[in-house]
Amino acid sequence: MDTLLRPWHPDDAPAVLSAAREPLMSRQFTVPIDSLEDAEAWIDLMDTRRADDTAYAFAVLSGGVPVGNIAVSSVERRHETGWVSYWVRASARGRGLATRACREVSTWAFDSLGLFRLELAHRLDNPASCRVAVGAGYVAEGVERARLLYDGQRFDTERHARLATDQV
Ligand SMILES: CC(C)(COP(=O)(O)OP(=O)(O)OC[C@H]1O[C@@H](n2cnc3c(N)ncnc32)[C@H](O)[C@@H]1OP(=O)(O)O)[C@@H](O)C(=O)NCCC(=O)NCCS
Repeated sequence: MDTLLRPWHPDDAPAVLSAAREPLMSRQFTVPIDSLEDAEAWIDLMDTRRADDTAYAFAVLSGGVPVGNIAVSSVERRHETGWVSYWVRASARGRGLATRACREVSTWAFDSLGLFRLELAHRLDNPASCRVAVGAGYVAEGVERARLLYDGQRFDTERHARLATDQV
């Protein structure tokens, strides 16, 4: 099978910028991405975070081309925890890519990073993200009321987690 995940490369900046320009995708990034320079800076930031052991972001590939991102961030060595997030470009959705990527990065985070608990959360009005989480073995742990604020509106989220010892 083709390689699914690899770290972001500096020359992926055009793909990152195109992804960030898709509807509702800019909020998937922790910094604003409005130009090629911003996209390059984001990739650089991902490199820095990898080096300082706080976050690990991977390009999700389709036919060798980056079409998504999967990350384990907020790595906390004390508690052996991490936070998983993902996005896939609109043209590549619905083919199981996010679910496969989430499974793969989770196995890697348990086996190679030595983490024990991986968490994620999705808005209740994002059923596709919920299906990705469940498909990758993340058990729903409960609703967090009004956790996120976008454009003046608050959104409930659902927390999921997967443990290294879960049978998936
Ligand atoms: C959420 C997202 C990553 C899913 O990526 P994807 O590659 O299309 O996901 P997959 O193909 O692996 O699987 C999607 C699952 O969601 C289901 N799904 C897709 N759209 C759906 C919808 N509107 N309602 C309900 N389920 C939906 C699919 O049927 C599939 O379910 P299954 O595994 O039970 O068959 C993608 O839609 C995305 O990037 N959205 C914008 C960013 C985002 O919301 N990120 C997550 C933030 S928490």
